[in-house]
Amino acid sequence: MDIKSNATPKTIYLKDYTPATYRVGHVDLSFALFEDKTIVKSVVQYIRSEGAVSADLVLNGQDQVVTGVEMDGVAFDGYTLTEHQMIIKDAAEKFTLSITSEIDPASNTALEGLYKSQGSYCTQCEAEGFRRITYFQDRPDVLSTFSVRIEGDKSKYPVLLSNGNLIAAGDLEHGRHFTAWSDPFPKPCYLFALVAGNLVRIEDTFQTMSGRQVALHIYVRAGDELQCDHAMQSLKKAMKWDEEKYGREYQLDLFNIVAVSDFNMGAMENTSLNIFNTKLVLAHQETATDTDFYSVEAVIGHEYFHNWTGNRVTCRDWFQLSLKEGLTVFRDQEFSADMNSRAVQRIDDVDQLRRLQFSEDASPLAHAVQPDNFIEISNFYTTTVYEKGAELIRMQHTLLGTDTYRKATDLYFERYDGHAVTCNDFVQCMADASGRDMSQFFLWYKQAGTPTLAASGQYNAAQQQYTLSLTQSQPDTSGQTDKKPLHIPVAVGLLDEHGNETHRTQILEMTAREQSFTFDHVASRPVPSILRGFSAPVKLITDLSDDDLRLLQLKDTDGFNKWESGQTLALRNIERVMADSAADISQFVDDFGVVIEQAVAGAGDKALFARALTLPTIAVIAQTQTVIDPAAIDQARTHILTSIKRAHKDALVRLYDDNANTGAFSVSPAAMGRRALQNIALELLTVTNGTGCATRAKAHYDGANNMTDRVAAMACLTDSTQAERELVFADFYERFKAYQLVVDKWFTLQVMANRPAIFDDFAKLRQHHEFNIKNPNRVRSLYSAFALNNPVQFHHPSGQGYAILRDAIIELNAINPQIASRLVTPLREWKRYAPVLQVQMQSALQAIMDTPNLSNDVFELVSKSLK
Ligand code: ARG
Ligand code: ZN
Repeated sequence: MDIKSNATPKTIYLKDYTPATYRVGHVDLSFALFEDKTIVKSVVQYIRSEGAVSADLVLNGQDQVVTGVEMDGVAFDGYTLTEHQMIIKDAAEKFTLSITSEIDPASNTALEGLYKSQGSYCTQCEAEGFRRITYFQDRPDVLSTFSVRIEGDKSKYPVLLSNGNLIAAGDLEHGRHFTAWSDPFPKPCYLFALVAGNLVRIEDTFQTMSGRQVALHIYVRAGDELQCDHAMQSLKKAMKWDEEKYGREYQLDLFNIVAVSDFNMGAMENTSLNIFNTKLVLAHQETATDTDFYSVEAVIGHEYFHNWTGNRVTCRDWFQLSLKEGLTVFRDQEFSADMNSRAVQRIDDVDQLRRLQFSEDASPLAHAVQPDNFIEISNFYTTTVYEKGAELIRMQHTLLGTDTYRKATDLYFERYDGHAVTCNDFVQCMADASGRDMSQFFLWYKQAGTPTLAASGQYNAAQQQYTLSLTQSQPDTSGQTDKKPLHIPVAVGLLDEHGNETHRTQILEMTAREQSFTFDHVASRPVPSILRGFSAPVKLITDLSDDDLRLLQLKDTDGFNKWESGQTLALRNIERVMADSAADISQFVDDFGVVIEQAVAGAGDKALFARALTLPTIAVIAQTQTVIDPAAIDQARTHILTSIKRAHKDALVRLYDDNANTGAFSVSPAAMGRRALQNIALELLTVTNGTGCATRAKAHYDGANNMTDRVAAMACLTDSTQAERELVFADFYERFKAYQLVVDKWFTLQVMANRPAIFDDFAKLRQHHEFNIKNPNRVRSLYSAFALNNPVQFHHPSGQGYAILRDAIIELNAINPQIASRLVTPLREWKRYAPVLQVQMQSALQAIMDTPNLSNDVFELVSKSLK
């Protein structure tokens, strides 16, 4: 019996959480892989939970054909199958249930559960993919040990992997073979993984702090093995870092990473068998940019760190997703900060937060880090849960201090190893280890929206006192009003009028709506450096003058605020030009020249100089506007960039020449910094898109010995109408067409073009034989790159940009709902755009809404966006 439902998708609430009625003792899975189907048999021991409110066993399952069920070894038909469930009413207290079913991985274009990618089988079970493999209580609080047997054709699939330790392997009849695996640590089913394919492996070892040897294997397609060294080095660094910073040791003898080409997300932390998007494993100077190298290190770290924060201690339910994701992002950010430049890391992380998370908070899709409800959990793998979640951990780290924070995480691992817990449990460990009351702090997890923090200072010369008055306010968001004040750590230092630091960083703890903090022994009117290191995820408004900001930009000891002051000055000037195109920006342009000269002089972190010479992007500026008009922002921004180029051309040429590529390629932070600085000089020199610009950019491309420089040159050419553009793009394609990840870059760089030809170009690229709607990386390289990196053309008043995205969402809805719903992001903030754009964005959303057979994923984001 198969009951189809046409009801509107059901909302799931955190308040309705109840423990599972049955515990699972052990799961035994066997997979027989055939070209037309995969036969899955699961043998599961069920034990009724103490205090279970019912004796019904409810299993989740979908997209499979059940061919046999046995209870305690005897054929059994006392179950009911609904569209997505198998229900056994009044089941025994303890029994073993065997279910055999057939699935078709080759036709699984949703890329959840078991699917085929370029000839290999792989799995993605988080969050709810395991139900596409076998009927099971697919929820993270059901933990058990697993044993797995896989069999398949030996020549096609010589590599057969699952979690844990390999316990048997051998040949079978008809050219087939098998492997058997055992994972001794109980885990939820979302951490199950299987891989079968014709892959090559790169090996290394790591000696843990207690002296155990762990074999490290990275599996890729033949030909890609020369691009794995950076990933392997990153893994070893991550393992060491987790031992040193968190005292966490790896528990098994084997750690596998497999790279696959078709993957909905970046990577997945399945126990001892991490599965990665190739984009986050493969890195070679010829084919990967410095940013790619950086991301590989960060994500290899992220997935490895999940071993403790996610796997050993897991989530009770999916409302607790940030328990593992926020914490693990914080851990990977700190790992990257330790491996590279701390200030640059913070700048880049905050920039991303503002671009993506602040915009989520400002949209109808704003939600809390621990949400109250959802329709489709896949939609909650958001920058709020991840990146804002990481900011909440960072604030707790700031409030407790490094040593107490470490005591608190030790307590967390000791208390909860092997358990499925909540964000509340984590924060309670912070409270218990520090003796602090963290109840007000917990509001950060429950209240959505970006708070505003307003700061104003008063100097009292007679008393030699400086008083900083702070006011916090919380915006209303969908379904949440009348929010309470938050517990905000505000890091503040004071500088005197010469820029000397007179008062080192203090953490002011704000708990009320309005609060004043007084500094003593202040000999003259100070310049405060507020929210150092971006100590809280808020929008800061200060009463600092341009001159105060200029002082901070030159003298602040806090690398983040030094950069931030320059960005605030840039924003102020962009707004001046937006209000009046003839506004006087000469002071800003002169100051910019000073920074260029400092960068030329060469003392200091080149990567930091490169950030200082970068104006805020349109997306970041948009977050400071009440009504967003991308074209107007772009015009003002371009006017300033052009003025900078005119005023400082010679200095920029010197900066470019002084930072030219010499000697052998390296990915050291210093070498990356040099490239970043030279490439920002190139960008500034080519803003006017004339013939000289095109010549210069092409020369840069022709002289490049690495992908970073090539991509930088192409980004400078993409808006151009000069002949060099087509020459360079054609050369690039010919050179790299064998590399899928580089072809992705080729698509992206073209659709970023802010020029009238974009819509014709887009149509051609969509028809290009290399475009494949079923490959998520390719979809992102075309559609997400266009909608997010080309704001002026995406928001073209004709509405053509919106139509492109609308059609893609409708097409992908039937192919891959997760990827389709991700594409809704650029439309979610429609209410904030200029009226002529707003109506068109709304009608694009409405057209999607009116499409029959919408997936839950797309339905949820589009319907909520329209509210
Ligand atoms: N846990 C993975 C990570 O962040 C991401 C899994 C994404 N799954 C999903 N259904 N969106 O490392
Ligand atoms: Zn993660």
